[in-house]
Amino acid sequence: MVAPPERPLIELIKATKRFPNGSGGVHTAVRDLAMTVQPGEFVSVVGPTGCGKSTTLSLVSGLQRASAGQVLVEGRPVTSIPDGVGYMFQSDAVMPWRSVLDNVASGPRFRGASKKEAREQATDWIARVGLAGFENYYPHQLSGGMRKRVALAQTLVTNPRILLMDEPFSALDVQTRANMQDELLRLWAGSGAAVIFVTHDLDEAIALADKVVVMTAGPATVKDVFPIPLHRPREVEELRLTPEFVQIYREVWESLRVEVDKTRQRSVAHV
Ligand SMILES: Nc1ncnc2c1ncn2[C@@H]1O[C@H](COP(=O)(O)OP(=O)(O)OP(=O)(O)O)[C@@H](O)[C@H]1O
Ligand SMILES: [Mg+2]
Repeated sequence: MVAPPERPLIELIKATKRFPNGSGGVHTAVRDLAMTVQPGEFVSVVGPTGCGKSTTLSLVSGLQRASAGQVLVEGRPVTSIPDGVGYMFQSDAVMPWRSVLDNVASGPRFRGASKKEAREQATDWIARVGLAGFENYYPHQLSGGMRKRVALAQTLVTNPRILLMDEPFSALDVQTRANMQDELLRLWAGSGAAVIFVTHDLDEAIALADKVVVMTAGPATVKDVFPIPLHRPREVEELRLTPEFVQIYREVWESLRVEVDKTRQRSVAHV
């Protein structure tokens, strides 16, 4: 007997999101978007600025409801924030008045762990992201890269099945960013989590992902999906120099470039 195909963990079917535009009309941010993510799959999403990438993540996270179409997690419509979702935002989500330890422990505490359990789990994750010894520091005593590590520990300590990442490394310098990308891949490899990773950086998108989804100029819909058949484990800095990588980059950029140009032309037309 042939095994039935695995059901996607996340499924968007003709998902549409409209917002009031502030002058009595509506603005369509996402239109008829179709996308699937398998359990454990790493999906990067690229698209021009303002096209609807963050909105797409907010639909999967349950922070926003679709205006039309369906958003399913494990085959069920998303009506509130599904269990097991970790969300890492572009801006720092660490709490400045709490130590590194208390920041990371806050997730397990919120989910009902005892103070002792939460601190144990937090200590373990702080070490895993390379910050052992910094447990009692406060965010303002850390570098930007270290704060991102705290945010990563804070997200991963809850052991998410679904990890939504919205340009999490965009504020970092090039070297710190490459370190964080390697770190993320290392931590993700053992986790079994499905990831949707939004980025403007096509290098980053390809280096991390199993597939890259290219979105159209707004309203966002899926233009192309590129499988990334590069072997793992990956070292992002070395990977970027390989002919296979460069070839994939060319193909994806060819698709993305058209949408970026459209967005640019629209903004010029508005001036
Ligand atoms: N809550 C909201 N109310 C009204 N309009 C919104 C809301 N959220 C997003 N939009 C609009 O939807 C469109 C898509 O926004 P979104 O933040 O999803 O884009 P993005 O692709 O993430 O952009 P960027 O790459 O710049 O982060 C934008 O025109 C934005 O103004
Ligand atoms: Mg965004």
